[in-house]
Amino acid sequence: MQTPITLGEFIIESQAEYPEATGALTSLFSSLRLAAKVVNREINKAGLVDIVGAAGNENAQGEQQQKLDVFANDKFKTALAARGVACGIASEEEDNYVTFDEGHNKDADYVVLMDPLDGSSNIDVNVSVGTIFSIYRRVSPVGSPVTLEDFCQPGKDQVAAGYIIYGSSTMMVYSTGNGVNGFTFDPSLGVFYLSHPKMTTPTSGKTYSVNEGNYVRFPQGVKKYIKYCQEENAETNRPYTSRYIGSLVSDFHRNLITGGIYMYPSSSRYPNGKLRLLYECNPIAFLAEQAGGKAIAGAGQRILDIRPTELHQRVPFFVGSANMVDKLEDFLSE
Ligand code: AHG
Ligand code: MN
Ligand code: MN
Ligand code: MN
Repeated sequence: MQTPITLGEFIIESQAEYPEATGALTSLFSSLRLAAKVVNREINKAGLVDIVGAAGNENAQGEQQQKLDVFANDKFKTALAARGVACGIASEEEDNYVTFDEGHNKDADYVVLMDPLDGSSNIDVNVSVGTIFSIYRRVSPVGSPVTLEDFCQPGKDQVAAGYIIYGSSTMMVYSTGNGVNGFTFDPSLGVFYLSHPKMTTPTSGKTYSVNEGNYVRFPQGVKKYIKYCQEENAETNRPYTSRYIGSLVSDFHRNLITGGIYMYPSSSRYPNGKLRLLYECNPIAFLAEQAGGKAIAGAGQRILDIRPTELHQRVPFFVGSANMVDKLEDFLSE
């Protein structure tokens, strides 16, 4: 067997295809990779050290922060600030965007948006969690302070997006707009290896993922689609299988590989859904489309076309295999 290519090698080789590239994105990925390893190490021993449980404060969206939410946020923020490759970050765990306007970060081109720890409620019970990141080129002039507009860009303008899944194995999956590639971490060597080159998602699948406990609060179209998933029909492989972990990264990762649909609709409790457009929906939608799938907020509303108005904006989210999202869209537009 050929020696597998490492994430570091892959990034450098991909950069060689763009002679105009400055290497800034390469350094940015190095920062993310380093922080991912640190967070992975901590998550792996979470039961042994005092890092599970609530941190004792709320984030900007009124959620109880977990200790690992705060830890992961700090590690990614510090790693990104250290290399001079990002001029600012926005995070689910920060009230406002953070500027790195001084020193070597002053002339940086990129902003990074992130969900440092996705699926926090799963940490205490040893279920997979993740990190989601999204990268844009700033729109404000280099050298001036970053602005809200740098962060509130439509998802279709993302330069790159990806996630790390801390699962039964740890993986990084990302795209720079030229397909999706997945890398598995070898903990004995501390290296990510290309394990899932050119990932594509099946056009149809058999899995639907939604928190069905909220069923009675969902819009009619969503309820009807869920019933459709449950109906017996040999031709279309129904009933589908229901799978819901409660970590978007893990639910999406499974459906990406096997085919399926993930839904976090609006409900009477969350009129705009629960998931955050900038830290969760946009990066996942970018990956879904790059893998041949689809992501919408409602009938005819492509996630990546939405122009954000605020950092912590929430949006209903439907993502997955193209045929399944199309079918759902029929029900939503009825
Ligand atoms: P986070 O842990 O980053 O706040 O995200 C939680 C999100 C997402 O990971 C998950 O899919 C969803 O919340 C689960 O919500 P419910 O428990 O309401 O189903
Ligand atoms: Mn949270
Ligand atoms: Mn999340
Ligand atoms: Mn989170």
